[in-house]
Amino acid sequence: MTEPETKPKTGPNSFSTSRRRLLQGAAASFGAAVLPVLPAMAETRSYALAPAAAKVKLLANPKAQATDVWAFSGQVPGPVVRARQGERLQIALGNGLPVETTLHCHGLRLPNAMDGVPDLTQAPIKQGEKFIYEFDLPDAGTFWYHPHIQTVEQVGRGLHGALIVEEKTPPKVDRELVWVIDDWRVDDSGAISDDFHHPHDISHGGRIGNLITVNGAELEDVPVQAGERIRLRMINAANARVFGLRFEGLDPQVIAIDGHPVAPHAALGGRVVLGPGQRIDLILDMAGKPGDRLAVVDEYYERFTYTFATFVHEPRKPLRQSPLDAPMALAPNPLPEPDLASAETQEILIEGGAMGGLREAMFKGEKVSLRKLWRQHRKVWVLNGIASSGFTEDPMFRLKRGKSYRWRIRNDTVWDHPMHLHGHAFRILMHNNKPVPHAPWSDTVMLHTDDVVEIAFVADNPGKWLFHCHVLEHHHGGMGTVVEVA
Ligand code: C2O
Ligand code: CU
Repeated sequence: MTEPETKPKTGPNSFSTSRRRLLQGAAASFGAAVLPVLPAMAETRSYALAPAAAKVKLLANPKAQATDVWAFSGQVPGPVVRARQGERLQIALGNGLPVETTLHCHGLRLPNAMDGVPDLTQAPIKQGEKFIYEFDLPDAGTFWYHPHIQTVEQVGRGLHGALIVEEKTPPKVDRELVWVIDDWRVDDSGAISDDFHHPHDISHGGRIGNLITVNGAELEDVPVQAGERIRLRMINAANARVFGLRFEGLDPQVIAIDGHPVAPHAALGGRVVLGPGQRIDLILDMAGKPGDRLAVVDEYYERFTYTFATFVHEPRKPLRQSPLDAPMALAPNPLPEPDLASAETQEILIEGGAMGGLREAMFKGEKVSLRKLWRQHRKVWVLNGIASSGFTEDPMFRLKRGKSYRWRIRNDTVWDHPMHLHGHAFRILMHNNKPVPHAPWSDTVMLHTDDVVEIAFVADNPGKWLFHCHVLEHHHGGMGTVVEVA
């Protein structure tokens, strides 16, 4: 299992050096005395991503054929996009796919026009066309990128990658691992099954696959050295599968959720739960002895537990005898703290799906029976009674810029829904009327059957933003809406 690291296409250094040289040149010719005090110029990191058809070997069996996928720059997952907090990021997207696409940088707080939502924030990027995304990076953290058009198929065929914004002072670790986790539906030969938007997937738990990969390959042993400290960044890029990982013999400390720092703590209930779209950063001190094999077991679905990965302690001398004595806590991101006293409370009710008993819904401004909606449009999910028809509908909420909001979200279905808000981060305050430890910042909050969660945030980023379920088949089946900040 190797980390798909690549160098940026335009070297960040060459780019910034030339800028610096320009500035020095200006100072030299005008003389320091007449120069205004310039703010430090942010460095720009430039990447080029080219989504196109590719062949990738997903199956570990050496005899297995390569799979036809859609990939960013020929890789699944796409190249790791890396920059540092405070820098500016530029991503030139050249569409080599046979279909239109866009790029959404999931979790980043960026200007609305850079959010990559077709028709809502930009026109779709046509075949053979190019679009340049460029924005500042206020927050450090583990984020990811994926198209935001026909996501069931585009993400399902392999289009996604890690986007990592490094802290100005990262915590001391011996090694960093990035795991982009995916779940594919393939046939015996390893070919992707093309039954995207299958009605059963839309109305039930989404497109659950039968091949789980980490960084684009079937799982293998992960060699480690006894005593070493690893920072593990995990990203769930699957369309629908939830992971619930238990780390045998280790005491993983959660240091960030959805990219944002949280007070280091052991995973609640001893399991790291990762729904589609979500990220977790862990600190792992390798506590085994040389030769030990420590399993990571996925036990999210009761009838389907399996060994997700195994940390194999190499038979050499431990790196140290007791765990590294260095702080794990990350510096907070500059997020606006919601004012709970003045916050306006808004309710969001999730209904629909198989076994949900929903009878009718609003669709394009009309009340229709669910039966008809399903037969004619394959919509079966609603938020506050409305099934979404696309990305451009009337906002469900108009939020006042700078004001704090508290959303009380209730899942009245028998399915899991990781609900994702664009352009903002929110605090998760309450889960089933109990305060959530650490009230973590997130961009995607998981609601299991009958759950009620309360989140709060400052609506400080102007524009029209999506709020939707990150089970991509659920979003396709109506579970999304738009909120406008003005
Ligand atoms: Cu990860 Cu609306 O997206
Ligand atoms: Cu859902």
